[in-house]
Amino acid sequence: MSLGIPQLDPALESTLTADMARVESLLRSHIEGEYPLVIETSRHLVEAGGKRLRPLLTLLGAQFGDPAARGIVEAAVVCELTHLATLYHDDVMDEAPLRRGVESANNRWGNTVAILTGDYLFAKASQLLADLGPEAVRLQAATFERLVIGQITETQGSPSDTNQLDHYLHVISGKTSSLIATSIRFGAMLSGADEKTIETLTQYGELIGTVFQLADDVIDIASETNESGKTPGTDLREGVPTLVTLYILESNDPADAQLREILSAPITDEAVVQSTLKALREHEALANARRILITYADQARERLSTLADGPAKDALSNLCEAIITRTA
Ligand code: IPE
Ligand code: IPE
Ligand code: MG
Ligand code: MG
Repeated sequence: MSLGIPQLDPALESTLTADMARVESLLRSHIEGEYPLVIETSRHLVEAGGKRLRPLLTLLGAQFGDPAARGIVEAAVVCELTHLATLYHDDVMDEAPLRRGVESANNRWGNTVAILTGDYLFAKASQLLADLGPEAVRLQAATFERLVIGQITETQGSPSDTNQLDHYLHVISGKTSSLIATSIRFGAMLSGADEKTIETLTQYGELIGTVFQLADDVIDIASETNESGKTPGTDLREGVPTLVTLYILESNDPADAQLREILSAPITDEAVVQSTLKALREHEALANARRILITYADQARERLSTLADGPAKDALSNLCEAIITRTA
């Protein structure tokens, strides 16, 4: 499996590939349990694939200390399990039919089983975490609190006295950047990197987390196929505002009056979803969103400047590029 980082140093690539194989193996063995249905339902998304970005970040963070230190592979698995659990829950909330290129668990087994599978994966993550010690448990708990509050804040929508764009960025930081930042922090922390490096990598993680979610939101509109493994237009069907739609909603261009009307609520008619996607793909708001996410990627890259030069730093820089390329 490709690691998805362009121009990766060959020696680092082989180390990361070997460690990712250990992550994969522990991930698969650790979800085993006593109850056949929940093993089947949790294997469903594990085996469907996914980019494994969070465990990869844990391994990259560990490159700034002793990459062979105890607990790094386990922490990487904790991050992927936490992510997976939120995907099961998120697809219930978003009524999404497709995930990682396969039918979502809620579509196949119903909401109750999908929710409980997410809970099962959280339980499995906690079992591994316990052996990583109280600091790790505290970090994961605080991260998960932010993530849940991000999701609930998105569901609640922006209060009338709040700027919608600020609200959106706040939601993204909670629901996505939190776990992405923690994934790299775990690697840095457990490998014994110095405090300043741990903080710098965490800040980088916060920024690429934002880039990553902005990119995901652009892809939900720009992608004309199910290539992302998800169904485009999910945000429109759910009425979740994103950078692209907020630009239109907040403008007072008379040419967009009808589009603003359509975008102001969830779109239930599939023909309207498709015609709106088409209109958005041609709208300057999409190009504008791409420009904004590039500015966040630049900030993420700049944050790396104080780190020791080397293949791991280059990999983190090139990862920014890879995330942007997905939206092109
Ligand atoms: C999906 O995450 C949820 C978001 C935060 C956008 P990923 O895009 O990392 O999903 P997988 O793990 O590759 O399936
Ligand atoms: C999901 O955000 C973030 C989490 C799973 C916490 P989205 O709802 O935008 O992600 P996708 O598009 O379903 O992956
Ligand atoms: Mg979703
Ligand atoms: Mg969602």
